[in-house]
Amino acid sequence: MNEIDLISGLVPATGEERPAPAPSNVVRSDRLDGKVALVTGGAGGIGAAVARRLAAGGARVVVADIDDAGAAEVAGEIGGTAARCDVRRPADSEKAVALAVERYGRLDLAFLNAGVTTGCGLGDDFDLERYRLAMSVNLDGVVFGVRAATPALRAAGGGTIVATSSMAGIVGIPADPIYAAGKHAVVGLVRSLGPALARAGIKVQALCPSFADTPILGGGKAVLEEMGFPILPVSAVTEAFMRLLDSDGTGECWFVVPGRESAPFEFRRAPGPRA
Ligand SMILES: NC(=O)c1ccc[n+]([C@@H]2O[C@H](COP(=O)([O-])OP(=O)(O)OC[C@H]3O[C@@H](n4cnc5c(N)ncnc54)[C@H](O)[C@@H]3O)[C@@H](O)[C@H]2O)c1
Repeated sequence: MNEIDLISGLVPATGEERPAPAPSNVVRSDRLDGKVALVTGGAGGIGAAVARRLAAGGARVVVADIDDAGAAEVAGEIGGTAARCDVRRPADSEKAVALAVERYGRLDLAFLNAGVTTGCGLGDDFDLERYRLAMSVNLDGVVFGVRAATPALRAAGGGTIVATSSMAGIVGIPADPIYAAGKHAVVGLVRSLGPALARAGIKVQALCPSFADTPILGGGKAVLEEMGFPILPVSAVTEAFMRLLDSDGTGECWFVVPGRESAPFEFRRAPGPRA
């Protein structure tokens, strides 16, 4: 292990941050033509919207989802390829990446986006299966996706990984602590992998939307509307995704919040040791 990587983030600010990588093959929003993307959770909601946007820009997209029919529909619509993929299984992510390479010759972008809410707390309502499901889809799915995509991205000379976290990965969510824990874990993963994969020319970013108008909201949508809490149109999340592609940074967590321009969330520097 590189010594700098071991203590990165814990050393006192020197005013001289480590430079962001200059990856050779990162995906830019205006250079999608010919790029090959994998989108997990691509059958609906944010994943489908991003898959459509990438394809409209000229990218070839593998739409990976546990929902076969939905993935086939989106893939058919955008001239992409559907992949049956349960992100809880490492082999499924590996197969989806292999399909991208076999069909289109390479992989440039992995959007690891599949996710579920938990629907239970840690009290009497705790449900072990729901807990395992949420952590498995929301965290394992990203870990396995990164592991599957990294060799193909390296082979392409670098590339981009975007993981969907959430604002629940930045703030506490008393109503769904397990969901928040999983999404915080994705934030920690991305902040760590950004510098770790920089030398390989791989940029790693997190997308952190507030509530967005997709089926995942379920009955929560009516509650939010009743409260007058603004809900993002999915197009706002897609726009933020495109902005994030164009950032020169890595390991960033891009908030997507109604009425605000998306940007990397600025975490406070942690206190380093005093000599
Ligand atoms: N919509 C929001 O308010 C919101 C806010 C912040 C973050 N997010 C995150 O955005 C991501 C996309 O969610 P969405 O809002 O589009 O919801 P959605 O329910 O519309 O889409 C989620 C997709 O993930 C797929 N999926 C679920 N389990 C899977 C599995 N095991 N393997 C593969 N695919 C699986 C579903 O079939 C579905 O197509 C999720 O990670 C979610 O946590 C959503």
